[in-house]
Amino acid sequence: MKTGLPIEMKFEIPNGSSESYHLIEKIRQNVQNGKIVILKNVFSEQEILHLKSEIIKWGNNTPIFPHGESPSNYPSLNYHRIDDGSVASACPHIFHQYGFNTINDLNADLSVPLSEIADKLTIIQNLIGETNFDISLSGLRLKVLQYPEGGAFLHEHTHPLAPQNVGLILSLSKIGVDFKKGAAAFMTQEGFVDTVNFHDIGDVILFRYDLQHEVTPVNPEKPEINWNLPTGKWSLVLELRDTHNLSHKK
Ligand SMILES: [Fe+2]
Repeated sequence: MKTGLPIEMKFEIPNGSSESYHLIEKIRQNVQNGKIVILKNVFSEQEILHLKSEIIKWGNNTPIFPHGESPSNYPSLNYHRIDDGSVASACPHIFHQYGFNTINDLNADLSVPLSEIADKLTIIQNLIGETNFDISLSGLRLKVLQYPEGGAFLHEHTHPLAPQNVGLILSLSKIGVDFKKGAAAFMTQEGFVDTVNFHDIGDVILFRYDLQHEVTPVNPEKPEINWNLPTGKWSLVLELRDTHNLSHKK
């Protein structure tokens, strides 16, 4: 199979200088041309580890939403749910998902770091996707996905290009520490692009939203999943509710 490599770039919020706009334009062009761009160190490891520990704490103190019922019936709910593969889904997957629909309803320990990260990601979304979204009940929502060791995955799927135009995946895990195998992977014009050795903690993957993608099984050699362990691959994504319903399995 033909393979390609992601392009690693830096990101800075434009400061008014022509250089800073030029950088954004370069990132945008790469994404529009179907390249997989990884923005390195958008957030520090310390920031991400702090956020992750607050999410885990919140999860431990919040009853698990039942698998099989759709959280879409509760659009403003903050919830978490273990999807262990026992309920059929349009796009097969195994992961522990955290849906943050109303960040302001969370306690400050979690809402403060989560909003900081959400705000910066929204700026990136709008700059690169040339959109004008916000985090709201009619706009973007935040999802955090833990793919535990033992083979958690997300099957190949696509989204419509518009209106989001670009997909963002923030890594909350350290390569070689939390996981060794399993990562976001894409089918591009240049071939299969695997980000396993590139997408480190605090980095943001950008991809043209209509590219076929998946998360390959995380540390599948482990005989079974222990849902109580915080290890494995963790990702944070921005998603439009409408788009969620338009995602298609390949
Ligand atoms: Fe996706």
